[in-house]
Amino acid sequence: MAEAVRPYSGGGDDVSDAPGRYDVVVLGGGSGGYATALRAGSLGLSVAVVEKDKVGGTCLHRGCIPTKALLHAGEVADAAREAAQFGVRASLDGIDMAGVNKYKDSVVSRLYKGLQSTLAARGGITTIEGTGRLVAPDTVEVDGRRITGGHVVLATGSYPKTLPGLDIDGDRVITSDHALSLDRLPERAVILGGGVIGVEFASAWRSFGVDVTIVEALPRLVAAEDEEVSTAVERAFRRRGISYLTGAPFTGVERTGDGVRVSVEGGRTLDADLLLVAVGRGPVTDGLADAGVALDRGYVTTDERLRTSLPGVYAVGDIVPGLQLAHRGFAQGIFVAEDIAGLDPRPIDEAGIPRVTYCEPEVASVGLTETAARERYGAEQVQTLTYNLGGNGRSQILKTQGFVKLVRATDGPVVGIHLVGSRVGELIGEAQLIYNWEAFPSDVAEYVHMHPTQNEALGEAHLALAGKPLHVHS
Ligand code: NAI
Repeated sequence: MAEAVRPYSGGGDDVSDAPGRYDVVVLGGGSGGYATALRAGSLGLSVAVVEKDKVGGTCLHRGCIPTKALLHAGEVADAAREAAQFGVRASLDGIDMAGVNKYKDSVVSRLYKGLQSTLAARGGITTIEGTGRLVAPDTVEVDGRRITGGHVVLATGSYPKTLPGLDIDGDRVITSDHALSLDRLPERAVILGGGVIGVEFASAWRSFGVDVTIVEALPRLVAAEDEEVSTAVERAFRRRGISYLTGAPFTGVERTGDGVRVSVEGGRTLDADLLLVAVGRGPVTDGLADAGVALDRGYVTTDERLRTSLPGVYAVGDIVPGLQLAHRGFAQGIFVAEDIAGLDPRPIDEAGIPRVTYCEPEVASVGLTETAARERYGAEQVQTLTYNLGGNGRSQILKTQGFVKLVRATDGPVVGIHLVGSRVGELIGEAQLIYNWEAFPSDVAEYVHMHPTQNEALGEAHLALAGKPLHVHS
């Protein structure tokens, strides 16, 4: 069905005909920015995307894609190392980092070419190379050139943060940007931060044989996840030989002869070849306050329609407080383009955005943790069910352990789904529909799930929560 689109005609100008003037100017060509451009272009709006580096941004060049390639190479190494468990004779001779990087870079470059040609092929989108600066609510200046738009969308993304006094040298004290282009592996590494980036690198490096220790200030790894998930990841990491210190704030690092000595509160020190700093990502918002954009601790403040304090100026992606995830950026970009086109889209529910951490075992979740649900509905008004993957044939074939945990408002819908285990990230698709469609356990229990799949564990968990368990030990 054709969409009813009201092309932008702001200010009475004939926007498309004036040189350097567009319906929408997008500052930043990462996930949020290019999604805005693609959707706006397909809605018949003229768009300029200003990008100083490469379209695709952090996700494609320094984040999601290269890290997942690294993690997949790690999975291949694990498969070779553990082949005998499956009766297969193989041995792991070692890791050829040049080969790993070639594979990783080839994935990135194929996707980059694809994205460039998609942007070029979609009518109405002009990519402008250069560093843009918002100078007025309708104007971005790029190397002295003024690009004006009916609307401006800020999509400048994020950078790896460090701590006060902790200098990144790119050699022994590095961020994820550097970690992605190492030409050789450290023998021993300390990772500062047991959040998403910390556990993903710990996982990949351990698969490559690196001796890894994570230092985390909070009492548990992946602390944003449900507590049972953290416990399962910690147990699995111990089995894999990944060391971690939790409740251990970092106090300093000094360079030693050929490495680093990391200190944590309580006086403990750890020696390693390098320190990877993974303590969060900060918003790239320099100069926006001068242009009149309201910021809160560096992030751009927006309303639920992603409008900033400046009329006609929107913000999307990592500069907007909330989950810093590429697919959130895509969704926000689509939302903003449709809002500008007058389609009146529905605001995005942050809790309905799926989250996957690609360590081994994987972690996937959507909706509320048990703790958050108890806070929202009251402790007595929440029911949970944990279905162990021990009862799931496919997981046993894969020799993985983990669970599906459901959180439900008593007599109400499922409000949280939490998964741990190899490959469970791929199960998040059904889980997000269950959460976002406010399904009851009995709704899901009606549907037949494929046997033998890991997906079946989701079906079994809902059967059990609906009061008709199948393969569940009582
Ligand atoms: P994060 O916020 O997930 O984790 C940072 C960790 O560092 C926290 O657990 C924090 O307690 C710890 N920390 C901070 N200061 C510390 C100190 N002084 N001593 C010890 N520990 C300290 O941030 P992370 O892992 O850097 O990731 C940044 C963003 O990138 C996240 O928002 C994440 O969602 C996104 N990302 C998403 C991925 C995915 O979806 N699979 C993969 C990688 C990153």
